[in-house]
Amino acid sequence: MATSAKILSGPVTQFGSDVRAGLCGTGPKELPSKYLYDQLGSALFEVITLLPEYGLTRADERLLRRHAKEIARLVPGPVLVSELGSGSGRKTRWILSALCQREPVSYYPIEISRAALALCESELGDVGCAGIVGVEREYLDGLREVAALRPDGVRLLVLFLGSTIGNFDSGADARFLSEVRGVLAPGDSLLLGADLVQPVERMLQAYDDPLGVTAAFNLNLLGRINRELDGAFDLRQFEHVARFNQATCSIEMHLRSKRRQVVPVRRCGFAATFAAGETVWTESSHKYTRREIAKLAVSCGFRPEAQWVDQEWPFAENLLLAV
Ligand SMILES: C[S@@+](CC[C@H](N)C(=O)[O-])C[C@H]1O[C@@H](n2cnc3c(N)ncnc32)[C@H](O)[C@@H]1O
Repeated sequence: MATSAKILSGPVTQFGSDVRAGLCGTGPKELPSKYLYDQLGSALFEVITLLPEYGLTRADERLLRRHAKEIARLVPGPVLVSELGSGSGRKTRWILSALCQREPVSYYPIEISRAALALCESELGDVGCAGIVGVEREYLDGLREVAALRPDGVRLLVLFLGSTIGNFDSGADARFLSEVRGVLAPGDSLLLGADLVQPVERMLQAYDDPLGVTAAFNLNLLGRINRELDGAFDLRQFEHVARFNQATCSIEMHLRSKRRQVVPVRRCGFAATFAAGETVWTESSHKYTRREIAKLAVSCGFRPEAQWVDQEWPFAENLLLAV
């Protein structure tokens, strides 16, 4: 069957057209990492954060817990808090609680995953003085909406934790942070979590755990295509691959086809052809150096105010002031 063979067309969503573009182009196959997070993907990601090999989330949380009061002091109030890709929001509790000691705060988690937003609302619902309003949007659309709600005289504190910034390709991280800066006003702040470079083996293990949770998280993207787009992927015929790309200093996740196969995606009216061993690139996680973060921040219109680094896992929490 030809790669673009017509099978059955229905209304094609953005997900459908991105899947078609990613699997039927002439170049290497690629799917946007944001589609990893449907209900099952968000649940699997939460499990990943508990894996012994994935020290990143615990490092992020240790830093937030330890420095929350200092962060609250460095962000003068009154303040409105928004978070880009909050996930379950578990770590955010420390920041909200510290800010709440000063005054009540409104918290707007921005998420494309409805399941993650639901988790976040139940996880943080008991932080007494924080009013939580979930925003089911893409990062920048959500942030523009939240910024428009800000009362006069109130500063924005934007959280971008968990090193999600590393999921942007090289150069795209700077473009994204510049766009975030464009939505902010001078005096607003961005708290940016970034995973740092460490020995390759340790970085690889974080994305290729022996329990196979990360593999399930990655393969679930094909499962999602089956569920939502009437795809016919046999998940057993693909395998999870994590590799280090030295040139971009990132861990890449791919899905490798174990044999030659043609897979219909009926709702989108195409079939994708895979050669044996061919891969689909599903996520990159760039690892930063401390200096690189500061340079990136300055180039995007922020002034680095403070940086805290975890002692057990190389991870940096960065407080950046919009100037
Ligand atoms: C790597 S997880 C991090 C979650 C959490 N911040 C943490 O540190 O554990 C990325 C989160 O961002 C969300 N996300 C990914 N792409 C997004 C986009 N374009 N717009 C809004 N949310 C997005 C995902 O649903 C997911 O919950």
